[in-house]
Amino acid sequence: MSGMRIAASVLSADLLQLEEQIRLVEDAGADWIHVDVMDGHFVPNLTFGAGMIAAVRRTTTLPVDVHLMVERPETFIDAFADAGASVFTFHPEATRHVQRQLEAVRQRGMLAGLALNPGTPLGLAEEVLDDLDLLLLMTVNPGFPAQEFIPASLGKIGRARHLLEERGSAAYLEVDGGISRETIFAARSAGADTFVAGSAIFAADDPAREVRELRKRCLTVT
Ligand code: DX5
Ligand code: ZN
Repeated sequence: MSGMRIAASVLSADLLQLEEQIRLVEDAGADWIHVDVMDGHFVPNLTFGAGMIAAVRRTTTLPVDVHLMVERPETFIDAFADAGASVFTFHPEATRHVQRQLEAVRQRGMLAGLALNPGTPLGLAEEVLDDLDLLLLMTVNPGFPAQEFIPASLGKIGRARHLLEERGSAAYLEVDGGISRETIFAARSAGADTFVAGSAIFAADDPAREVRELRKRCLTVT
């Protein structure tokens, strides 16, 4: 396992200062900008669409990491590719033909990601591992920022890392939900390499310092 990425989630950013907030975390060393798309059906919350992705794309040169918590994510493959999404991650429960959609995402030049809820077995990803550029393990139930990291996730992260290594997969292993100074070290030690952080960064007094702190907490993991 080498390298780590911090994906700053704009769900917790001040939307009226979005450009400034993105610049701030980019200058502080954030690696990706994470955009949470929610439709009010797959999760009980409503957020952003293609317009937001395009706006983020114009604001930064960092990869735009789009996480779809929507039913029928395939509906948005073309629109989000056109808007400039770099990573397109969806939940398997939201579509009938997971493998077909993963292929379609790659065909549109985006990295294909699959997101698993805390209660969704890893075996689901195992079946399509060769089609994955990224495996996202939810470490809270999706829908809202600032929830508490579910400790049982650590075992699943470890098993996912083992699976990726066993199969020779270079897919990113991303974790999302409740990542903070307190939890990032354990998640990294368990095998995650990409860390979504929303409230830990944007609700802090000094978001730039928080980005640096999160990275620092991982430095001692080899
Ligand atoms: C939650 C979203 C997350 C959210 C994480 O459903 O998928 O990306 O921004 O927020 P924090 O880091 O505050 O748990
Ligand atoms: Zn997310």
